Amino acid sequence: MRVLVLGGGGREHALCWALSNAPSVDTVLCAPGNAGIAAVADVRAVDPADTALVRELAVREELDLVVVGPEEPLVADVAGTLDVAGVPVFGPTRDAARIESSKSFAKAVMAAAGVPSARHWAGSNTDEAAAALDGFSPPYVVKADGLAAGKGVRICPDRDGALAAIDAALVERVYGEAGARVLVEEYLSGPEVSLFGLCDGDTVVPMAAAQDYKRALDGDAGPNTGGMGAYSPVPAVGDELLADLGRAVLEPVAAELASRGSRYVGVLYAGLVLTGDGPKVLEFNARFGDPETQAILPRLRTDLGELLLACAAGRLAGAPPIAWDPRACVTVVLASAAYPEPSPDGVAVDGLDDAAGVEGAYVFHAGTRSEGRRVVTAGGRVLSVSGLGATLADARATAYAAADRIRFDGLHRRSDIAAAPVGG
Ligand code: AMP
Ligand code: GLY
Repeated sequence: MRVLVLGGGGREHALCWALSNAPSVDTVLCAPGNAGIAAVADVRAVDPADTALVRELAVREELDLVVVGPEEPLVADVAGTLDVAGVPVFGPTRDAARIESSKSFAKAVMAAAGVPSARHWAGSNTDEAAAALDGFSPPYVVKADGLAAGKGVRICPDRDGALAAIDAALVERVYGEAGARVLVEEYLSGPEVSLFGLCDGDTVVPMAAAQDYKRALDGDAGPNTGGMGAYSPVPAVGDELLADLGRAVLEPVAAELASRGSRYVGVLYAGLVLTGDGPKVLEFNARFGDPETQAILPRLRTDLGELLLACAAGRLAGAPPIAWDPRACVTVVLASAAYPEPSPDGVAVDGLDDAAGVEGAYVFHAGTRSEGRRVVTAGGRVLSVSGLGATLADARATAYAAADRIRFDGLHRRSDIAAAPVGG
């Protein structure tokens, strides 16, 4: 079949790579792609959030499947547009994607579905929000309701900080309209785990769990980022817990969305905290995680094209079970100097072939572009380097051995990815 992947980061490189290796897939196209994706897919300079252009491309190219990577095209309703055009799409409609784009909607769905989550208050009035703080104890968690590019959450050690965070969102509007409504939330303490479920609207199949490292610096210091590294599997989340979480978290949410007329097709991503009282949901995302995908797909033994098409076609229940490589995978993100703040683009990247030559290593491009024969940086997260190994320690050694061979000015990475895995 002919498949189009929307997006151009490390997650999309891993998706394009896995699809290009899938026996069911003849051709992979990607819009807009990046320098690495161009080696495994036919890249097109189309804005993935421009629904009319994507529909036109899908029809002209006689595509059998469109796979949506990032959230922006989902919020623009690329899936709804392709549904109407009769093009099979892996990714939820805008309505179903509200599980990510509105935190208060996600809370309402979780409450109705009986899914454990942090206790919360939501509203748009500053005085009421301040009064709501009385119902919680420090540290206070204050969140913008809408999409704020991963920056909408503040963890505040005291009440003054929480009041300032409420003011920043509701009055100063530092997140724009995304912060016109805020949530005050109970602080959940414990390790965070990312859980991914494939959904076809009715059936949900959990994938392997992963752990993401959100902070910029070693020891979970520094600012929150999109993710600086990941590993899979998570020793604390064995097969039994994974199946339990599928039944207790993913299935009820998919069923609740279907009962509201928003059947969920795509990957349902639950950010969980393993608290002393059991796993609780921090948030849902309507897409694969980045960089978790780069640590999960190298372990996938099943044909990814068939799996994603089964979701799009509503026949996941009849699909064979997902098979996993028993080896572990560790992914290290190589970022630009100032990441998560912007850095200048166009810095030459060296050592890519050398790194890819390390046995068991995969170099996925995130923010790169080609300049003549060179690859240069084009974003904050530049590359994600994954390594497979018999154990997490072996996989970690492979990933860092490959990462060590890559050089660019200002290269910044964490050195503690998978150094102390949860439950390991
Ligand atoms: P989110 O954008 O909801 O994923 O939040 C970003 C990060 O903030 C999460 O990965 C957590 O590390 C942290 N966070 C968000 N909500 C909470 C909470 N209720 N308790 C503890 N940490 C939280
Ligand atoms: N790695 C976190 C995310 O994709 O949102």
